[in-house]
Amino acid sequence: MNATAALTGLGTALPTRRVTNEELSRVLDTDDQWIQSRTGIKQRFWSAGEATSDLAVEAGRSALRSAGTDTVEMVIVATTTPDHPCPATAPDVASRLGLGVVPAFDIAAVCSGFVYGLACAAAHIAAGLASSVLVIGAETYSTILDPDDRTTSVIFGDGAGAAVLRATAPDGPGSFLAFDLGSDGSLKDLITIPDGGSRQRTSGSGPAGSYFTMQGKPVFRHAVDRMTESARTLLETTGWAAGSIDWFVGHQANARILRAVADGLGVKSDRVIMDMDRVGNTSAASIPLALARAVADGNLVPGDRVLLSAFGGGVTWGSSVLVWPDIVAL
Ligand code: ACO
Repeated sequence: MNATAALTGLGTALPTRRVTNEELSRVLDTDDQWIQSRTGIKQRFWSAGEATSDLAVEAGRSALRSAGTDTVEMVIVATTTPDHPCPATAPDVASRLGLGVVPAFDIAAVCSGFVYGLACAAAHIAAGLASSVLVIGAETYSTILDPDDRTTSVIFGDGAGAAVLRATAPDGPGSFLAFDLGSDGSLKDLITIPDGGSRQRTSGSGPAGSYFTMQGKPVFRHAVDRMTESARTLLETTGWAAGSIDWFVGHQANARILRAVADGLGVKSDRVIMDMDRVGNTSAASIPLALARAVADGNLVPGDRVLLSAFGGGVTWGSSVLVWPDIVAL
């Protein structure tokens, strides 16, 4: 690889509408105690009319400001909830951010989307195809949840997080030192929106399954196994001991999942960033939102060793490591 990709800016956006566990308990057969003890979630934010691109633009603008720039050479949007099935959301976001005619495309790796996006950006930078890339994870899961399904409605939230990556000298501050990505399509039915694609159109069936569905129990098990395995592979590649990780920032699906992964790796439980209490599971947006919170709380500081790991529909997974740079999260 010629150049390394370094994190130089971070921005976030949340919808204005805050939805507490108490509010959901009034319309679903659930309660705050169940939700908090089984997931760690206290509240989430749901769109009050914002589309995914609206949140992506807001987070992207903040990330550019955080990086002290108003130009990048590529835009990648990771999302499960694009504004439309066609076209992709990224070109619209790039245009509204005033970034000109740069290449812009979406990535569909569900909750692993942000890590996939970072890897894709880093690979473009290493190949010399771009010297700076804006990677955005943005979601409005509230638009695909079945309001009567207590097993999914209490878990997911909307939001966006964005990162600016820039070419730097190898091992410069904020460099992504390695990636590990994977998928197992034999488990594709565990997390799915059955309808709306070519499978439904070619079979001629009506629009019966337009809501998001998840088989929570097997997803839980696979998430723990794959995130642990992926993170372990990465630590071996970089030669980092688990005990030297300052912060494990995993996909914020469930506090119990993150504790189990940290346990399996040998990362101390007080080194795990938890953000699902504030925003729920925001899928592709969850890792950048968690990073920004860790910075805002004064936990994540320059020089810290950070391990990222995600798992999502597909199923897909991905991990990366970096030494935290001196940036402000906006
Ligand atoms: N309120 C009250 N009770 C509930 C609720 C609720 N909101 N949801 C389920 N229950 C009940 C179930 O009906 C079940 O009752 P029963 O025993 O009478 O049948 C009981 O609680 C236990 O249900 P489980 O599904 O076994 O609960 P579990 O402890 O597994 O927690 C959860 C469910 C939170 C979904 C968990 O399985 C999980 O976190 N899974 C992984 C999610 C994940 O990692 N996603 C990442 C990828 S997401 C993506 O890619 C988009």
